[in-house]
Amino acid sequence: VKDGFDTFMDKEIHDQPKAVADTLLGRHDDDGDLVLDELRVDESVLRTVDKIIVVACGTAAYAGHVAKYAVEHWCRIPVEVELAHEFRYRDPVVNVRTLVVAISQSGETMDTIMAIRHAREQGAKVLAIVNTHGSTIARESDAVLYTHAGPEVAVASTKAFLAQITACYLVGLYLSQLRGYKYVDEVAGYLDELGKLPAKIQDILDREGEIKAVAEAMKDTSSVLFLGRHVGYPVALEGALKLKELAYIHAEGFAAGELKHGPIALIEPGQPVFVVVPTPRRPTLHNKVVSNIQEIRARGARTFVIAEEGDEAVTEYADVVFRVPQTPTLMMPLVTVVPLQIFACALAGAKGLDVDQPRNLAKSVTVE
Ligand code: F6R
Repeated sequence: VKDGFDTFMDKEIHDQPKAVADTLLGRHDDDGDLVLDELRVDESVLRTVDKIIVVACGTAAYAGHVAKYAVEHWCRIPVEVELAHEFRYRDPVVNVRTLVVAISQSGETMDTIMAIRHAREQGAKVLAIVNTHGSTIARESDAVLYTHAGPEVAVASTKAFLAQITACYLVGLYLSQLRGYKYVDEVAGYLDELGKLPAKIQDILDREGEIKAVAEAMKDTSSVLFLGRHVGYPVALEGALKLKELAYIHAEGFAAGELKHGPIALIEPGQPVFVVVPTPRRPTLHNKVVSNIQEIRARGARTFVIAEEGDEAVTEYADVVFRVPQTPTLMMPLVTVVPLQIFACALAGAKGLDVDQPRNLAKSVTVE
């Protein structure tokens, strides 16, 4: 079952190229148009949606956070991302023109189930992005887009996360297609770029030894910070969550721009900080993050930089650089999160911990 890997987590990290490829498979026709027949929601409803609210928990919520950047950019529909357990207690503004997107690997997370029940009572349509066929969330939603990650056994989510992000891109592109491509080119080009992602993820996996060596040397670390901007921000949050869950190390993710508003006070000599750097092809974003690396480096941080191949601007300020293949900005999370997963898994392994069954956690959280 573990395909020769020591742990399910390790196997599932290596399943990711396939999880992304399978989630894309069979979802467009010969003309390159997206066909999401499985969505049982009337197209006229999707054409008139004026707000999207993503409800999810944990890692699935970070997938929603990535979706917000892509869907708002491609469709100009406002997207809110809300932790499912906060959603129904704040009297959210939801009506028949709201599309609620529930993201869940298990499809059994009670917080998310309660959120979609509340949304449907208010007249909203619910679209579920779910990995488990026939699960409660799939059954109780108006429409389902399945992620094809295959069964995820390790408690902490990895391949389901990449599949969720991929499915979110499909939903965004589909809405854009249905609404007449007012803001982007036709989907074919984006699908083509998405199709290149499995090989790019594989390229990172082929170089995992570099990351593992760094992780193994850090088994006595007690605190790690993660910084990211734009879509790198949810990646930073996910990197921190993986490290907490798997290695029981205090870890925090921040929006890089928030640093000077407080968290920079945490930087002292030797503090490890991971920084997720946007592509240099978006200089305005890239320059800001490079300045952040300079600022923390000047205060003694040990910087672990996730940057694109060919991004030379970061080398001077990085103690360690992990390279990821060049990827369009909005799709970068599918590559930048992978080194962070490998890092957390290897560090936990070096500490002798059970990475598949971290303490106090359950694979699906079926109580509120
Ligand atoms: C993190 C993790 C959890 C889940 C969350 C939602 O590694 O596994 O944060 O992402 O409990 O679970 P699902 O996706 O099953 O609704």
